[in-house]
Formats: sequence, C-alpha cells, structure tokens
Amino acid sequence: MDKKEKMQELIKKIQYHDYLYYVLNKPEISDIQYDKLVNELKELEKETGIILAGSPTQRVPSDITNNFAEVEHKIPVLSLDKAYNIDELIKWLNSNKIEDFVAEPKIDGFSVVLYYTNGILEYALSRGDGKIGNDLTNNIKTIRSIPVVLENKINMAIRGEVFINRDDFIKYNEKMGNIYANPRNFAAGSIRRISPEDVAKIPLRIFVYDLYTTDIKFKTHIESLEFLVENRFPTPIENIALFSDKETSKHFQSYKVDQIAEFIKNITEKRKKLQYDIDGIVLKTNNIDLREKLGYTSHHPKWAIAYKFESPTNISEVLDIKVQVGRTGKITPLAIIRPIKISGSTVQKATLHNQEYIDELEIGIGDTVLVSKRGDIIPAIEKVIEKKGEVFKIPEKCPECYSKLEKDGAHLFCKNRHCPARIRESIFFFVDKLEINGIGKNTVEKLLENKIIKNIKDLFIIDFDIIKNLEGFADKKVKIIKDSIENVKKKEFAKLFEAIGIESIGPNVIKLLIENRYDSFDKLIEIAKNKKTEELSKIEGIGPITALKIVEAFNDPEILDLIQFFKEKGFQVGVEKKTEESSSNKIFENTVWVITGSFDNFKPREKAKEIIEKLGGKVTDSVSKNTTYLLVGKEPGSKLEKALKIGIRTISEEEFLKIITNKQDSN
Ligand code: IVH
Repeated sequence: MDKKEKMQELIKKIQYHDYLYYVLNKPEISDIQYDKLVNELKELEKETGIILAGSPTQRVPSDITNNFAEVEHKIPVLSLDKAYNIDELIKWLNSNKIEDFVAEPKIDGFSVVLYYTNGILEYALSRGDGKIGNDLTNNIKTIRSIPVVLENKINMAIRGEVFINRDDFIKYNEKMGNIYANPRNFAAGSIRRISPEDVAKIPLRIFVYDLYTTDIKFKTHIESLEFLVENRFPTPIENIALFSDKETSKHFQSYKVDQIAEFIKNITEKRKKLQYDIDGIVLKTNNIDLREKLGYTSHHPKWAIAYKFESPTNISEVLDIKVQVGRTGKITPLAIIRPIKISGSTVQKATLHNQEYIDELEIGIGDTVLVSKRGDIIPAIEKVIEKKGEVFKIPEKCPECYSKLEKDGAHLFCKNRHCPARIRESIFFFVDKLEINGIGKNTVEKLLENKIIKNIKDLFIIDFDIIKNLEGFADKKVKIIKDSIENVKKKEFAKLFEAIGIESIGPNVIKLLIENRYDSFDKLIEIAKNKKTEELSKIEGIGPITALKIVEAFNDPEILDLIQFFKEKGFQVGVEKKTEESSSNKIFENTVWVITGSFDNFKPREKAKEIIEKLGGKVTDSVSKNTTYLLVGKEPGSKLEKALKIGIRTISEEEFLKIITNKQDSN
C-alpha cells in the first residue's frame, strides 16, 4: 500500500470512529488509540506534503444527526490543540509570548453553542462540524440553570459543555438499561433525544467557557468569564484560575504564572473527587488583542491549548486471551496478563471488548503491552509495545457449544440458549442475586458436572439423597442447601424478577415497574400480550427500547415457562398489597431539595417541605453538589446564585405545582 492509500485508509478509519464517538456515543477504541490514528495521519501528511480532501486534521469532526434541523453557526466552532506534558505547555506559552493566561477544566461532555439576541436565548446548536450544527434549542432549554432572559440586552454566542454528574449518571443509566459506557456518552445521547419532555426528565447540567460578542469590548478572557458569572451562567468556578504576575480576578482564584505546574498537579489529584468528568486542562491566552494576533488554524485557535490527562500505566505481557460467553450470549475476549501494579492495585486481566478493538490494537498472545487504568479505575490495554504473537482472532464458533457466533452491532453472540456456558452463567447470576446460602459458584459447577442440575428449575427439584454421596457435600452442607432453597420462595418479588436476568431489566427498571403498578408477573404478561410498549414508556425513566425489551421478554415462551414454574412452586410472583400504595407515591425518592424565597401556595413555606418529604424527598438547608433541585420562590436569596454557579436544577413554584398535581391526578 502506498502512502496515499494509507492516508485514505486512516481518514476512513478516523471518520468511522468519529461517527461512533460523536453521533452514536458508543466509542469502540480508547482516546489514546484514536490519537494514535490521527498522529499517524499527521506524520504522513508532513512527510508527503499532501493533505487529502476531508482530512480530519483540517477540520472539526461532525456530530450532526438527521434528527434535528441544521442551522449555520454565526461563529467558527473550533476544536483545541493538544499537549501531553507541562514542558509542551511552557513551550507554547514562551513561543507565543503569552504573559497572562486562564486555566480551565476541560469538561468531558457534549459541546453546544447558545445564541442570545437582545439578552434572550434565541437558539442553541450542537457543535456539528464547526460550521453547521443541529438545532437543539428545545432540549437545551430543559437545562434549568441556563438563563433564558438576561437583564443585559446583549447579542452574543456562548460555548459550553452539557454534562451529567457522576452520581446522576449511575442512577439514570441504570434506569435506561446501562446503555452508556460513561457520563459523556450519556449526556451526548440524552441531549439529542427526540422529545424535550424526555430530556427534561434527565438532570443534565451545563458549564459555559467562552463568549463571543461585539457589543462589549472585553479586554481579557477573565473579564468575559466574570461577566458570565455575574449573569448567573454556571461555570466550574472553583477550578478556574487566572495566571498573571500583574492582575488578580474578582471571582476566580489568581496565581503567579510560574505556579501552573503546581495547579495542574492539584487538579489532577482532585479530579477523581469531582462530580463532573474532566479530561484535561485548557490554557487560554487572557489578553484578547494578543489572541487575535495569534489567530487560528481551520481546526483550532492558536491562542488556546488543551493539556490532556494521561491515565496511570505500567508494562506487562499477554499470557493468554480467553473468550468468555456471558449470560446473554455476548462474547467478550479477555486478556490475561502477567500481574502488575498500577497506582497501588494489582491488575491481571483487561477486557478486549470485541474483534474491532483487538484489530485496532493488533494484539496477540505473548505481546508486551502498555496497560492503563482509565479514569484511574478500569484496566485497559492501550498499545502493543513489542509484538510476539499473531493478532488474535475470536473463533467463529462458541468455545463451549460450538454453535456459529453471530454478529450484533460490534459484538459477537452465541445465540444458543442451551449453550452450557450461558446456562452456567445464568445459574451463577440467579444464585448470586437471590443470595442462596450454601450454593456458590463452585457448588453450581459441581452440580452441573455431576448432572444433578441442568438449569435454574432443577435447583428446586434436587434429589438430596443423591447429592449426599458426592464429594464435598457433607450432611451439614446439604442441610444448608435444603433450607436455603426452601427460603428462596419467600424472597421478595423484585429480587426474583432481577435474578431471572432479563436483558436490560435491572433493579432500577424493576423498581420503576413496581412503583407504577406493574407489580406482578401476571400484570407484565398481560401488558406484553397486548404489546403496549407506549404504556410502559410513559413511565418516567423507562425509554422505548427498554419498554420493547420488557414486552419481548414477557412474550418469550422460555421465560413464561420459568414463571409458570415459580408460580407452581409457591414463589413470590407479585408484590404483596400493603406496600403498593405507599411506594407508588414516592416520586421524589432519592432527591435532595433546598427551598429559597416565599410562595403563594405554600405559606409558611414549611408546607412545601412537608409535601416534598411526603413524596419521598429530603429537604436540606444549604445548596451543595448533593442538591438535586432548588425550589425557587419570590425574592430568592443567595442560594439561587450558588445553585446556578454549580449547575443545580431550579424549579419554579408553577412547575412544582404542576409536578405534584399531576401526581395526584394520576392516583
Ligand atoms: S475552548 C475556540 N474550553 O473540548 C475555543 N473547550 O477537545 C475552543 N471543552 O470542542 C474551545 N471544556 O467542546 C474550551 N474549558 C473549555 C472546554 C472546552 C471542554 C471541549 C470543547 C472543545 C473540545 C476540544
């Protein structure tokens, strides 16, 4: 392949990964692997002096989808140049003679531009391809911390990043069947939901970081950020800093220029504790005149640079690559590596996700590899340092039942429901979720090996006279197993439901179904028979995909057969009546509220507090990052300002009334 062809291939690959990342929110390769592709292309462009049409080094990747109208940006929406160490930053500062600059966290979210005309939020666009974006106005307006009307009748564009707090991500992702791998993908997927009502149900937040206007002549970037704070725009205020040997800032921390390394070290350490994900620190020239002098490329401004965090890494060797078959039949290749320490803990395996991922890494058994802990948590193989083995190929057949594997999206699946691996994994899951005493993984394996059981049902018809004779099944153990099997029948409905292990139906979805009166297998079978997916997706937190999965599951003969078996054996196949009424009312469960100002309908305002608490919410006195909602009445106090600054959602009296009366209507 000649260099031009190689460049063409790289462009195609990068475009494919841009699409997965920016449009589908389902990336298949790591940032480091992605950067490797881009750097390889950059090198070839330098070497050959040729830049092919559509090269990603010349433009901003596109996040445009055809679900929303396309609108032209009034400003060029550029990306950032990258640096991976402090020396590169210092070099950049010195070579451009930058004397003062601002450091901001690089928020790992979804990039948007808000356009204000005469102080009113007129429309909001996604970044798009930097020239044209998708019109997301109605969805973006559901983010309550964005001021829609300003006192100042300014015309301006503001760039910002939509994100979700880590705690909210865990909660809401589970409700949606854990379809997103991280908060960024979740935020990017949610803000582009078709209906603003659905978007409003998700606690999305925003931080803004750049302002463009000709109405006010800001001399420095920090002045424009101060203007944003004073106009109640949320910014990551406590982590923004001005670096200047002459000036200080009113709202932000100020440092001397030579303190930048120390600042970066502090933020890097603080990073894990923040509620929002950041993937680096952005340095921006403070002096606006100098900015204009430094100028732009078609990809990034020369007056700014992003310092990207690197994950902690260590070197190891691939001892083996195992192919695992999950409960749902999903095939996951797993690299077994020589145990190594990375930031304090031992790592001995790392998932290789799918064939695409393996091909991208070009990894094989025996290779020496660089292993990282992404976000300092999940081990991942970043690259091959020394090649020994051939690139690993996932076999075409299931390693346990030999049926041909089938591709579904990026993954391979064993579709044989009677595959021993799938059965084993679903029994493991079942006994684990129902906490059946005396039956751990080893026992299940022994029972399977000795053909005492071959599926979940068989656990409940074990012949104890036979197992007494097996090795390792002393009388005492047999008694424990006998008792716990009898006790399982008393376990609550929600636990049994979860243990069956239906794809995409985890504990949160089950809780929502129960709260919304789908609290028995019979009721679910009934709704599934009539294929009423719309009924199910009306439930806050249950999307159309999950609704479809529920309907499919309760039409599945094997699942229906299992449920029938549980019924006959006297299991809890529904919720007992008494808990039904109280739990269905707890719409504010797991939310933390703060109240500010006075209210027409709640005098004294303690009345609002009582309602929130009755509906399962908690009311506290001061706004913090743990606050879910701020209920805002007339003449609000400083709590409002604080909430806006840290991106807490605000709820007006009118809106609050709507929520609580809707609830009463539906009862
Ligand atoms: S400044 C022309 N500041 O990172 C100015 N960008 O990888 C360029 N981002 O497209 C943007 N936090 O979506 C800027 N504090 C911050 C940022 C930030 C996150 C995003 C932004 C940009 C991307 C580049």
